[in-house]
Amino acid sequence: MPDYQTILDEIRDEVQPLLTRGAVANYIPRLADVPREKFGMAVVTLDGQLFQTGDATEGFSVQSISKVYTLTLALQSIGDRLWQRVGREPSGNAFNSLVQLELENGLPRNPFINAGALVVADVVLATRDDPRARLLDTIRRCSANPILHDDPQVALSEKAHGFRNAALANFIRSFGNLENAIDEVLDFYFYQCSLVMSCVDLARGFLFLANQGRCPWSGDTVLSPDQAKRINALMLTCGTYDAAGDFAYHVGIPGKSGVGGGIVGVIPNRLAVAAWSPGLNAKGNSLAGSEALERFTSKTGLSIF
Ligand code: DON
Repeated sequence: MPDYQTILDEIRDEVQPLLTRGAVANYIPRLADVPREKFGMAVVTLDGQLFQTGDATEGFSVQSISKVYTLTLALQSIGDRLWQRVGREPSGNAFNSLVQLELENGLPRNPFINAGALVVADVVLATRDDPRARLLDTIRRCSANPILHDDPQVALSEKAHGFRNAALANFIRSFGNLENAIDEVLDFYFYQCSLVMSCVDLARGFLFLANQGRCPWSGDTVLSPDQAKRINALMLTCGTYDAAGDFAYHVGIPGKSGVGGGIVGVIPNRLAVAAWSPGLNAKGNSLAGSEALERFTSKTGLSIF
């Protein structure tokens, strides 16, 4: 087994000069308050061993990373019927882009761009009694963290500045691809973005995707092995937006990022790894976090290729 602890500590030291090069997301004012110098990283192996470095236990706004969990809930509810309403192709456009939607009749390219996540949120709202509680419970169980919570201030800040998301939801609705009231869909979407997790939570919380869909902590079968395989494939091709090709090239594992600076990767049958650094690159992915994951797969020699 690679010496994960030494590797994580080395990476923490090596990325220090990068921490101030990224730009903290400021289109959601609440996110702009987070210090750029933060860096954390955690690895959890399939047999439950945890390795961590830096600010790995500090909570941050997971933002788009939660799209993996809402996709999980939607697949649990309606299985492959979901794909009648959302595609599975990389978009090649920014995560909050509107242009493709018109050309493609309100069918979002994939579940990880905002348009796709809004449709997924709509499915969860339509098929679950208490969607927020269900989402929170799933994440808490997967992460083995019973006190994991949301940050209502972030959700409010997103709502107050969520003009693009509102435009997307209205546009999708005009094509008949949203069932619920637009405000309900948006509120649920802002709620999921505002969940607070640490690198340790994320590494633990994504281990079910490295473990054939089964959560090792709770024993829950979250997804079938086949569904877990497919979510991993989607994370590889679409999880880092229009940088997914570059991420696959440099890092070589399924990954999912969020504008809070978190980024989580899965090495099937092996481990989950999460990094956090709030400074983002031009595509909205954590600058030092992406570099940290690249160094991790290079130093350990682990990737899916
Ligand atoms: O929809 C938004 O603008 C954000 N709340 C979530 C975006 C996000 O994390 C996309 N990420 N890279």
